[in-house]
Amino acid sequence: TPADTEYDVVVIGGPGGYPAAIKAAQQGLKVACIEKRGTLGGTCLNVGCIPSKAMLNNSHIYHETKHSLKSRGIDVGDVQLNLDNMHKARVKAVNGLTKGVEFLFKKYKVDYVKGTGSFKSTTEVNVEGLDGQQSTLKSKNFIIATGSEVTPIPGIDIDEKKIVSSTGALELSKVPKKMVVIGAGVIGLELGSVWSRLGAEVTVVEYLDAIGAGMDPEMAKTFHRLLSKQGLKFKMATKVNGAKVEGDIVKVDVEASKGGKAETLEADAVLVSIGRRPYTQGLGLENVGVEVDNRGRVVIDSEFKTNVPSIRCIGDVTFGPMLAHKAEDEGFAVSEMIGTGYGHINYDAVPSVIYTHPEVAWVGKNEAELKSEGVKYKTGSFPFVANSRARTNDDMDGSVKVIADAETDRILGVHIIGPNAGEMIAEGVLAMEYGASAEDVGRTMHAHPTLSEAMREASLIASTGNAINF
Ligand code: FAD
Ligand code: NAI
Repeated sequence: TPADTEYDVVVIGGPGGYPAAIKAAQQGLKVACIEKRGTLGGTCLNVGCIPSKAMLNNSHIYHETKHSLKSRGIDVGDVQLNLDNMHKARVKAVNGLTKGVEFLFKKYKVDYVKGTGSFKSTTEVNVEGLDGQQSTLKSKNFIIATGSEVTPIPGIDIDEKKIVSSTGALELSKVPKKMVVIGAGVIGLELGSVWSRLGAEVTVVEYLDAIGAGMDPEMAKTFHRLLSKQGLKFKMATKVNGAKVEGDIVKVDVEASKGGKAETLEADAVLVSIGRRPYTQGLGLENVGVEVDNRGRVVIDSEFKTNVPSIRCIGDVTFGPMLAHKAEDEGFAVSEMIGTGYGHINYDAVPSVIYTHPEVAWVGKNEAELKSEGVKYKTGSFPFVANSRARTNDDMDGSVKVIADAETDRILGVHIIGPNAGEMIAEGVLAMEYGASAEDVGRTMHAHPTLSEAMREASLIASTGNAINF
């Protein structure tokens, strides 16, 4: 049994954790993964990336079918939303993938221990099993991947029915007539889009004067305009003072961020999406003296080691962007480090994607960051309206912007709004990983007609000042 085994690596949690477990096992190490949720894959597979993308994709198809098929020469009958079945499709996607991870654990002989892990010593972790059984696992190394949880707003009770976090917002049993979204970050814009497409009147309240939680300022403006055109309403530079359920409705008190005009918004559902915070509750870090910073993040060095050498940490619960692929790559790297002493991760080339329609994707630096760092740069922007494939598909909103160093032409950042931006950004990430210049990408042949030609043309503009089709 796991309790009788001397492990090389014990992983606790998430989608950062399972690649770590598999990579460690592939190197011949004896590995267990402790997870308390009952299913594998953490936030991402169960209540994050995957179910949100299922709802985004299916609500997009519904919306397109209802509103844009006619102009494409497709006449359909009365289009109806069947929300129950849309939820079933979401659950099916999640179940398929979480079972897939379980299969991989079997394949690579990773012991899957269902329960809550809590450190007992620097070499032992107690597990309170989901079946109520207590056990202790011994290991040479531990990897913490316990992730993050919703940041609450003081005084606002999340009941997951009327006032919801992303988890409740994925599962609403009917389309709210009016929805208020607090926070115009990634979750607010993705899930706000879902319910707006399905018929809700969505108002997004944002504390700052820009949407998109720190994306390139020019792209944020374009994105704001496009989402407004789709019917989302925004209350910018506005703070929320409170929200309470009164009968069937929620009253949300808001006020200009800098003080001033106050008003009360009414909604059938309110989504709280002002960020996430590291989660270490019940992990027993205090029993072994693992250091956390003032924001609750587990402090690590460049080899993911905490101040306790046998305990390493990756993913949302430590530094860096809270993204599944970042957690996953750290998982891969940390296990290589344990197995071989060396692992690789490049924090300068972490892609970000917002899966709205159009999608928004970026990698590297944005213009605001480069300005504040005093870096001299040049840009090349190519609009999808000049891209043959986007025109053919009648899906032309957005553009590609390539930012390159003014002197060396090395690509410093790529920012895309457009159909399939999330897939296209991989080229920008690869270019940055290989230290490409804008000219390198500009001289690379791209298939015609494809959206990716816009990446090539933007690179040409950045490197030579001119494109062919613009
Ligand atoms: P988590 O995924 O949070 O996993 C931690 C796991 O540890 C949990 O399952 C928890 O049950 C378990 N756990 C915690 N404590 C213990 C314990 N003591 N014992 C045992 N188990 C424990 N990122 C993207 O890159 N792309 C997206 O499209 C995307 N969409 C998202 C949509 C939503 C709605 C949300 C909320 C997040 C989204 N994210 C997305 C972010 C992504 O989900 C996280 O970055 C990612 O899941 C972090 O992985 P992790 O391994 O650090 O932790
Ligand atoms: P976020 O950090 O993306 O955005 C939060 C927004 O709320 C910011 O714009 C902030 O200014 C605003 N805000 C903060 N306090 C406020 C207040 N009191 N009133 C009004 N506005 C306020 O956080 P979000 O959207 O909750 O997402 C959490 C994390 O999940 C993100 O860090 C993201 O990395 C991850 N995620 C990633 C996705 C993706 O990669 N596609 C999808 C969904 C989540």
